[in-house]
Amino acid sequence: MGIGTRTGIILRVKWDIIAGNVRKFARSWLRREKDEFKSELSQDKIDLIDFAFTSLKAHSFADLGGIWGVNGGYTFYALAKYDIASAVFVDTSSTAIFEKQSENYKQLRFIHGNFGDERVARDVGQVDAIFLFDVLVHQVAPDWDEVLEMYAPQAQCLAIYNPQWVRSNSTVRLLDLGEKEYFQNVPHAPTEAPYDNLFQKLTQKNPGHGRVWKDIHAIWQWGITDADLQSKMEALGFRLQFYKNCGNFGNLKNFENHAYVFGR
Ligand SMILES: C[S@@+](CC[C@H](N)C(=O)[O-])C[C@H]1O[C@@H](n2cnc3c(N)ncnc32)[C@H](O)[C@@H]1O
Repeated sequence: MGIGTRTGIILRVKWDIIAGNVRKFARSWLRREKDEFKSELSQDKIDLIDFAFTSLKAHSFADLGGIWGVNGGYTFYALAKYDIASAVFVDTSSTAIFEKQSENYKQLRFIHGNFGDERVARDVGQVDAIFLFDVLVHQVAPDWDEVLEMYAPQAQCLAIYNPQWVRSNSTVRLLDLGEKEYFQNVPHAPTEAPYDNLFQKLTQKNPGHGRVWKDIHAIWQWGITDADLQSKMEALGFRLQFYKNCGNFGNLKNFENHAYVFGR
């Protein structure tokens, strides 16, 4: 065997080892991400999508805030099941699983940004249905009701799933309850990121979000009552077409998960 052939074999073996390691790393990274963002869809949210696409005959939609925990799962459910002409997905974060899966749908557009931003709302444009699943509870500046005002003129129907405040008749900004009560009412411990030292850093800038901590959407912000949500939607020209009380949010005694579809 000549020197050239031997060098060739050594290089191939080394390349196989490197390629194998790269593949192993990619597999373990995807597995880690899958575990971190467990892809389990809630039947109650699926029922909202089914109602919007069957009863209200929607053919386009925007999923506002659909990454965390589900990697765009509700968007992909709708795209796989219904005849969707166009879909828009907005989130401030993304995952490799979401990006890989979105390659299968040419009619899907991903806007990487804050859906409370006027420019993002304009970019979303007119759609038949908007999904707001577990996001209103997090919206500040613009607040949850201002987000509804922004998107109402752009849609025929809004499918909303949200932990709703059932302790009092008025909507509360949860941070106003003070540190002790805040942590009695959110499903997060004061030691857990990003909630650690939250009350000490409320007015400091969060570099990732480019705004002060008290206004970021990564924390629980609102206890919204049913009456306030429904009267806001009625004022915006919508009628309640589907409602379900989906029960307690874990062991939080002041919140219940409620599901709604509002149509025109
Ligand atoms: C609690 S998760 C809900 C995920 C999914 N909709 C569901 O129901 O399982 C909230 C998601 O919305 C995103 N989000 C919340 N507020 C947002 C905003 N104003 N702009 C963009 N994304 C936002 C978060 O990044 C996160 O991925």
